[in-house]
Amino acid sequence: NIVFRKDYTAPDHQIESIDLSFDLIPTCTEVTSKIIAVPQEDRKSDDLILDGDDLTLVSIKIAGEDSFPGQYDMRPGKLIIHNIKERTEIEIVTRINPRNNLELSGLYMSKNNYITQCESEGFRRITYFPDRPDILAKYRVVIRAPKDYKDLLSNGNLVEQGELLDGRNYAIWEDPFPKPSYLFALVAGNFVAQEQKVTLSDGREALLQIWTEPANKGKTEFAMQSLVKAIKWDEERFGLDLDLDRFMIVATDDFNFGAMENKGLNIFNSKYVLADENVATDQDFANIEAVIGHEYFHNWTGDRVTCRDWFQLSLKEGLTVFREQEFSADMLGDESSRAVKRIDDVRVLRNSQFPEDAGPMAHPIRPESYRSINNFYTTTVYEKGAEVVRMYQTLFGKDGFRRGLLEYINRYDGTAATCDDFLNAMAESNYEDLSQFELWYSQAGTPRISVETKWDEIAKTFTLTLRQNNRTFPGKPAPKPLMIPVKIGILDDAGNDIPLQLEGEDSPDGTSRLLILDEAVQSWTFRNVSTKPLLSIGRGFSAPVIFNTEYTREQLAFLARHDSDLFNRADAFEKLTLQMVDQFITDLSRRGAQNAMPSESYLFAFEDILNDDSLSPAYRAKVLEMPSENYIAENRVLIEPALIREACDLIKRRIGQRLRGSFEDKIKNNQTPGLYRPDAADAGRRALKLLSLSYLAYAQDAKAMQQVRNLYKNANNLTDRLGAVNIAVQASLPIGEELLSKADVEWKSEPLLNNKWLALSTQLRTQRGKRPTVDLIRALTQHPKYQDHNPNSIYALLGTFFRTGGPEFHRPDGMGYQLWVDSVLFVDKFNPQVAARLARALENWRRYEPTLSNLMYKALKYVSEEKNLSPNVREIIEHALTEP
Ligand code: ARG
Ligand code: ZN
Repeated sequence: NIVFRKDYTAPDHQIESIDLSFDLIPTCTEVTSKIIAVPQEDRKSDDLILDGDDLTLVSIKIAGEDSFPGQYDMRPGKLIIHNIKERTEIEIVTRINPRNNLELSGLYMSKNNYITQCESEGFRRITYFPDRPDILAKYRVVIRAPKDYKDLLSNGNLVEQGELLDGRNYAIWEDPFPKPSYLFALVAGNFVAQEQKVTLSDGREALLQIWTEPANKGKTEFAMQSLVKAIKWDEERFGLDLDLDRFMIVATDDFNFGAMENKGLNIFNSKYVLADENVATDQDFANIEAVIGHEYFHNWTGDRVTCRDWFQLSLKEGLTVFREQEFSADMLGDESSRAVKRIDDVRVLRNSQFPEDAGPMAHPIRPESYRSINNFYTTTVYEKGAEVVRMYQTLFGKDGFRRGLLEYINRYDGTAATCDDFLNAMAESNYEDLSQFELWYSQAGTPRISVETKWDEIAKTFTLTLRQNNRTFPGKPAPKPLMIPVKIGILDDAGNDIPLQLEGEDSPDGTSRLLILDEAVQSWTFRNVSTKPLLSIGRGFSAPVIFNTEYTREQLAFLARHDSDLFNRADAFEKLTLQMVDQFITDLSRRGAQNAMPSESYLFAFEDILNDDSLSPAYRAKVLEMPSENYIAENRVLIEPALIREACDLIKRRIGQRLRGSFEDKIKNNQTPGLYRPDAADAGRRALKLLSLSYLAYAQDAKAMQQVRNLYKNANNLTDRLGAVNIAVQASLPIGEELLSKADVEWKSEPLLNNKWLALSTQLRTQRGKRPTVDLIRALTQHPKYQDHNPNSIYALLGTFFRTGGPEFHRPDGMGYQLWVDSVLFVDKFNPQVAARLARALENWRRYEPTLSNLMYKALKYVSEEKNLSPNVREIIEHALTEP
């Protein structure tokens, strides 16, 4: 059952309105849906096709009359009502079982609260309906629930609430904006709400509410502030106002994803709402601001203008991630913090999207086909999608981008649009031909660009030649050259940017220039380059590509020191580190070179950045953090997890030993006394302090060990406390297990902390002669902190272990993969979406050393032979096994 983008056809019937009423009972909720179906002029058929999944049909009335056999047909997943030739009212009663809904798609229960999740295809698990995003209807919702259910919420405006004759409660909601079914939401339970009023730019007042379980009262202040900031930011940056009188957020512990932008009633995974200094880290605070922003920004880019079909998912997600990134950056303000944000975003892309683009699940940001759309909520659609949107801004500037975005919204407000629509709005409002740019939507793979430079000392010219190389896919047409914005600068031998004057120009124009690479090979020549030049390329990460540069170590160290572009400075240092890691791996594999040393020039560059007080602590911490083992793996031809670990540990140990004084100094000078504040400045200090402590811990420095212990004990915030445990387990300090068991006892009865503790446990290093970590992880699936059916638990323990477990997961005895098999099969029985995410951990099996890759292949094969696999997991496994 594969769906293809090319097969899209417009619906034969629209739904003008839907009246829904719910009688909430955990195992037997009755849903009555009254829809007005409107046949379209140019329809191909009079059949009205409704989707349905896991529903018990009770009755159907057509135009007020009980239906009779022959008026409709049931097909797998469909209810087809014949002969709808005119505007017709259809009333359908169904029963559903929210208590048994462990897929967490449709209407389900989280403890005793009712929650919905409808994107992408959850609404069909509530009632029969044409569950596709190009059907926009007006919703009216009646909720009836037992009297101990106090809070009954849905989209839009509350028009009435009260008590029924039988003592139950009811509420009636009306959403003034037509919407697709995936944006429907219902929440029922007992909550507390933090409320705040905001005055919008047109003087209207809106009520903001954040609903949580009573136990979480007091943890929503930061989320509320973030929401207010997001509202103001969208007003200022894009002139987009909140269009509702009431905007609600609900937090739940049981949720498959991060959060959901249901119109006026966003539903969030509680980890992206709840925060205080004891349950959230600096990173969590930053994530909350970002995700609150993200879902709020969807109100325009997603809700007011939605997607025609699910192939267009990046239309709303790529765009909204971009808006979220810009929001977070604007909240930081200064250049160096903004650079940290950019480095972070690019790391996510390189760590997880690049491997996806190079592996068997590669797909363009607008996929061509899918078996389960849920498998395409990927870093490609989201993060690469955001980079593609960013390129419009790079090409047209902030003003041009704003013009294009507003044009897009004006054209398509209240409708379902496509990626082409967006591109055309951008192109036309900036008078630019973007037909070639369109290839970013249809070609998968990360472009590789080889870079050649030539300096003619006599003629004083500098020539840059770029050659793009795009991934070919068997059975697909050869890739065409993309349109790639390449921002460059040229440093002179003192490290200053030189003014750039292209051949044919009368005078230089700026020191950073945007070149447009839109052919397979292209050259640019710059004049008046009189000292030995050094190229800085892809400044600010101007396009989601890989530049194959051939810098020497000295050149990289020079760029890391002098590039005026803070992103590229960090990038040069990272390349330098990666080169060194490669060297260590080679040495270690050849002759077990336990006494290998980072070069003096590397240590010098490292220390220079560490001690450079003109750079913010956050920036220094970001640059000097060792690349993750996954990222190192991604940059190698053959992946050998044990060697990567050994090399990283050794390098960190050496750096810790050699730069002890500087690290101690950083620890001393980056304390954050007084009340905990999650702002960027304090967070940056904590990051630099923890980074320094970590290097010293790897060096098994006795004083540092004591500091780790004290930090855990005395910290007034979770960032430090968790940081301490993390350092202890990752650096295999003798106190690692002790701190972990302390935290087990002390971090009690708080789901957020339980999950953090589970994730930390996966980082325990297996020591010779000791119990393997994989055994511990298996045992932890029985631990009271682990909730079998809860996605956050599963992601925290199994997801983290499979993703970052290194040699503890990739074991030559296959025990790691056995746990993977068991987990995927177990979870797939009740939650295929979550299982499919776990399943992805082995898809790049071909790149591993032969022992591991054979075992991974066997594990994949074993899962594929399971008869009752969900389509979700089957799609992942089949791709992994078949595509080269
Ligand atoms: N639209 C949500 C967001 O990114 C995510 C929904 C995920 N849904 C899914 N079926 N994977 O804000
Ligand atoms: Zn989104």
